[in-house]
Amino acid sequence: MKYAALLYPHQNIRYRESLLKITQEELRMTLQAAGCGSELEARYTGNAPFLIFETEELLRDWQRKLLERVAGIYVLFQMEEGGLQPMEPLAVAYLKEDFPALLKYKGKTNEMFTDAMMTMALASSDFSRVADSQLVVCDPMGGKGTTAMLALCHGYHGISVEISKSDHKEATDYVSRYLEFHKLKHKRTEAALTLKGQLGGREVKFVLADTQEHFKEGDTRTLRFIQADTQHLGSLLKPESVHLMITDLPYGVQKGTSGKDRGILQTVRESAVGWTSVLKKGGVLAVSFNANVTHRKDLAAIFEECGLTALQTANLRHWVETAIDRDILLVKKTAER
Ligand SMILES: C[S@@+](CC[C@H](N)C(=O)[O-])C[C@H]1O[C@@H](n2cnc3c(N)ncnc32)[C@H](O)[C@@H]1O
Repeated sequence: MKYAALLYPHQNIRYRESLLKITQEELRMTLQAAGCGSELEARYTGNAPFLIFETEELLRDWQRKLLERVAGIYVLFQMEEGGLQPMEPLAVAYLKEDFPALLKYKGKTNEMFTDAMMTMALASSDFSRVADSQLVVCDPMGGKGTTAMLALCHGYHGISVEISKSDHKEATDYVSRYLEFHKLKHKRTEAALTLKGQLGGREVKFVLADTQEHFKEGDTRTLRFIQADTQHLGSLLKPESVHLMITDLPYGVQKGTSGKDRGILQTVRESAVGWTSVLKKGGVLAVSFNANVTHRKDLAAIFEECGLTALQTANLRHWVETAIDRDILLVKKTAER
């Protein structure tokens, strides 16, 4: 069977090329996880970018649901006698896609890009066959919570750890406002965190559900915003409690980038053992970084020292803006380690 995936158009023509490169790899990895490895052909019709692929058999529902996770795909078509038949989506979002999108701020990681990293991590983890279950997704440098909110849209539990008190406050205020505006049943609790007997941060926890009935039945999801230094992650979360870890490292584009670079790598070095300990076996960490500032091999070496395996992907380095060429590294906690 032949399929055509129409990608989202992006206003910025230069970023459109970046998006094509990322989506191509995201789709390739997802097809592989769906057991239908396939060649991809990129084709433009006018300005509209398509990715065309073939499978031996008609896609089954679970395979379609996995393909629907590919963030860069706008519409999936089945190609029939030269025509395109749009395929109705099968999966229903737990929360609407505006949840991670409405809060705008400088330094935000584009939601579609964050979602693409999540799909790549899922596809290369041992959990793609249970993508429908309640996975736990953590962003250990979560900013204002894009990753955790996206996780919730997929029906997962989200954890966001962020050092900045103001980012933490803005994110949690926004979540409260969103849930109240949409009349989504929830419970918000706050706690001070102690680390080694001292105040080590704060946690705001939301327990919520997509419907009133689910909330009453206790069929809920948890969104945790932890304000703390990520180097304490190993003490803040239970060991092997996270399925996927997704993070966008600071870009280090302010003054003195080389100094910043040392800062970023040093933070990762001090945190990598903790990050590894909370990841489940079979889980994957996807980390994006500014390749002009942080070097891929240095980053990979830090995680490999902790026993994680760097995964082979296509070259994912892409242009974002002046001084930012972003890249993605995927590392896995293999089950046999
Ligand atoms: C590129 S931003 C992530 C943006 C985020 N994905 C979003 O969309 O809001 C990197 C974040 O790492 C945070 N950060 C830097 N050092 C940290 C540390 N030691 N512990 C926790 N967070 C840290 C920064 O404050 C910043 O918010």
